[in-house]
Amino acid sequence: MKLIKTVFSAILSGLIALYSCFFHILRPLRALIPESVRVKLRGQHTSMDANLYRIPAMALEQFAYRLRGKTYVEWYANFKEREADADRRSDAPVLNQGALERIYATGHEDLEILKALGLLPDHYLHEVGCGRGRTTQHLVAYLEPGHYSTNDLAIDSLNEAKTRLEQLGLMTRNPELLHTLDNSFSWLKRKMDFIWCYGVFTHMPLEDVAEILANARPHLKPGGAFLASFTAHVSGQSFRLSHKDWYFSVEEMVRISEEAGYEVEDISHLEPEIKKPRFEGDAVAKLLKLTNPS
Ligand SMILES: C[S@@+](CC[C@H](N)C(=O)[O-])C[C@H]1O[C@@H](n2cnc3c(N)ncnc32)[C@H](O)[C@@H]1O
Repeated sequence: MKLIKTVFSAILSGLIALYSCFFHILRPLRALIPESVRVKLRGQHTSMDANLYRIPAMALEQFAYRLRGKTYVEWYANFKEREADADRRSDAPVLNQGALERIYATGHEDLEILKALGLLPDHYLHEVGCGRGRTTQHLVAYLEPGHYSTNDLAIDSLNEAKTRLEQLGLMTRNPELLHTLDNSFSWLKRKMDFIWCYGVFTHMPLEDVAEILANARPHLKPGGAFLASFTAHVSGQSFRLSHKDWYFSVEEMVRISEEAGYEVEDISHLEPEIKKPRFEGDAVAKLLKLTNPS
């Protein structure tokens, strides 16, 4: 059985490589396709490249991963490693110094939201997916030493967050930075007052969101809250935007949160500004407060 799975996944990988070559050879011919046909192929919300190449190729790659018994998290961690490697080799990395500075100039608004929800310096807070440490820098500075922890599947992002904290002299406040490759939360050793999860659910399928919500709740104190941001669409529908981006409907998010045992409150009005839409003005930033009742 293992041999069959390995052979099948090797064949799939070969097919993806072939499809990739074929797609890139045909790419220059796209200019010849009339706009009306392009809109039909790409739909309202995404690009033709995404629909015809990236989503199917990456979906096949993810399927090959699953065949080998691996999870979406493991695929995404590997994808991010490849991205970071490509970035290191590139003369023009995706984020130059100016872009990084713009990222680090934000994040304080997240702390303000948490303070408005009752966060105090002696509370314990865990951040799911800290990324480069945009919000981390403010949370670590505000909370008492040892009261902040985070996990991220991307080792490069965690290292960047650590560098940022070192630059600000905040590593002395003992933040716990965990590199995790699963959504189990078994790596979280204490009960939290708050779990902050911002800009993370947008990058995973709904099953993974449900898994995180269910596994996180036992790590919240009674009355503790999980703050979950996600991207909704003005149409109110859920759909996959790319190989690693999803829009979820509010109803669906409320349903899976209630199934995981939370009391749900839509606190999107606390967001300082509606996030800039990615495509055709259709993205809406949403924030839910999910309280652990017991
Ligand atoms: C768009 S970034 C947001 C970073 C940060 N929360 C912020 O607001 O700036 C999403 C981060 O979540 C991480 N991530 C995505 N899925 C994850 C998962 N299942 N477990 C841990 N980290 C995850 C990614 O590696 C990435 O660093």
